[in-house]
Amino acid sequence: MEQAALERLVAAALAAQRRAYAPYSQFAVGAAVLTADGQIFSGANIENASYPLTICAERVALFSAHMAAAGPVTALAVVTPTPTVASPCGACRQVIFELAPRAQIILLNANGSERRFTTPAELLPYGFGPEQLRG
Ligand code: THU
Repeated sequence: MEQAALERLVAAALAAQRRAYAPYSQFAVGAAVLTADGQIFSGANIENASYPLTICAERVALFSAHMAAAGPVTALAVVTPTPTVASPCGACRQVIFELAPRAQIILLNANGSERRFTTPAELLPYGFGPEQLRG
């Protein structure tokens, strides 16, 4: 993807990280989704005293893009508060596979100095998707 768009997306993910509500894990994650029409939707993890109700940053961003009917997701950036890049949890991989199957995925460490480029299929090989339901 174009460098300027990438930097804009990374900046949005870093800004979103500051909206994380992570009083239990102290692990703030930020995500930003770029859609085909050039819009950016961001998300952060939002935890709950009933721990399993926590939602990850990636899903907040992807659901938000879906609700805006913003068209296909072309890229997704995720920033974690880690010295080296971390990768999305299993639940988020499944949702990425569904809602952003052709997205370029960029994973970033805490200060954005390390970036890993990956794809939904690489994150979820042999993934279960809509085609399987069609039989
Ligand atoms: N988390 C995310 O938001 N995205 C990920 O890819 C990994 C984990 C959140 C969930 C929880 O609030 C915290 O990070 C620790 O697991």
